[in-house]
Amino acid sequence: MKILLIHGPNLNLLGKREPGIYGALTLEEINGRVSRVALENGAELRCFQSNSEGALIDAIHQASEWADGIVINPGAYSHYSYALRDAIASVRLPAVEVHLSNIYAREEFRRHSVISAVAAGCIAGFGWRSYLFGIEALIGILRDREVNPPAAES
Ligand code: DQA
Repeated sequence: MKILLIHGPNLNLLGKREPGIYGALTLEEINGRVSRVALENGAELRCFQSNSEGALIDAIHQASEWADGIVINPGAYSHYSYALRDAIASVRLPAVEVHLSNIYAREEFRRHSVISAVAAGCIAGFGWRSYLFGIEALIGILRDREVNPPAAES
């Protein structure tokens, strides 16, 4: 089982960036913790971060060639990137959306995600553990698919 973990813009600054909202762990520390849990569950995790919308879209396209699913924190792109939304819809890999903060309890513009409509589900508000729960959710989805493969879509 192969999983791509994608982090969007400004998440490279985790640890320094508004720690009261996003926590004290760096991106590397989060990746390490999540990779360990993935491995314990028999999954291989590749991690990717970019501040650029195009690079994130390219990574999603490429994932369709090797990954079984995606966990993504799209950062601020969550709130307005139809291009990222379309990329996820195009590759038809199950995607779990995660957010460190509870976006529904924050500023108005953060309360809507254009990504959620094409995600299997969204986990928000549990700090770095949102990623853990996201990986566990995706692994569960992929295990279910092994037993009951989804019908081919047109
Ligand atoms: C975020 C929430 C977004 O609104 C914000 O722009 C981020 C991080 C989160 O993980 O809580 O960059 O996705």
